[in-house]
Amino acid sequence: MAYLIAANWKMNKTVAESIDYIKTFKELVRDLKDVDIMIAPSFTALSSVSSLISDTNINLGAQNMFYAEKGAYTGEISPIMLKELNVKYVILGHSERRHIFGEKDELINKKVHAAIEFGLRPILCVGETLEERELGKTKSVVERQIRSGIAGLEKEVSSIDIAYEPVWAIGTGVNATVEQAQEVHQFIRNLIHDISKGNDKGTRILYGGSVNEKNASELIKAKDVEGFLVGTASLDPKKFYEIILKSMEV
Ligand code: PGA
Repeated sequence: MAYLIAANWKMNKTVAESIDYIKTFKELVRDLKDVDIMIAPSFTALSSVSSLISDTNINLGAQNMFYAEKGAYTGEISPIMLKELNVKYVILGHSERRHIFGEKDELINKKVHAAIEFGLRPILCVGETLEERELGKTKSVVERQIRSGIAGLEKEVSSIDIAYEPVWAIGTGVNATVEQAQEVHQFIRNLIHDISKGNDKGTRILYGGSVNEKNASELIKAKDVEGFLVGTASLDPKKFYEIILKSMEV
């Protein structure tokens, strides 16, 4: 599997700003092969971005989704709405969804099921808070988030990517060290290998949390880091492009 380098723009960029970005970015990356590139803009920009990248090597992602196909769920977006716009990936269980919007493992699991059912590739986000790390609970928290996130999908593990994003590293400028990332990534690899009875070869384990063009070369060297989920640094097309280049050096 090619590594996946994914941009999570979060609640940034208007439609006009998104279009500007993509026009620059698609020229920068046009000749890159053997790497999967994904951009997750805001919902309002999905349609415009989708048209602009239709004949490029950039894949479209969504930052969230509800699990039902349609119905009385004010303010929510369904899997078929995303499919209609050629969205391929969907970020689920991001720490901001968990901590600001109160999403629980059970809800996230329903969303992961729905993504698989409708042919979207979930990027399931997991990661411990600083307090949990300091209490020595990193692995137990990550294990719980993964076991419940993919419950009932033991045969589909290869259709899911996982992003390890320590909460203390997100948007703080303090990234995990290579050793810290590798320790948890290796733990996740062994865990999903177990859960899937060995059918986890298609799953990439991404690192996220203050990845930038300076630390990407180092982090990607960790044996079980197979891509990145990038927030802040992905908002600048040149920086995001540099991160992609650095991740291709290994
Ligand atoms: P950050 O965000 O790169 O700004 O730390 C990463 C993420 O939340 O996916």
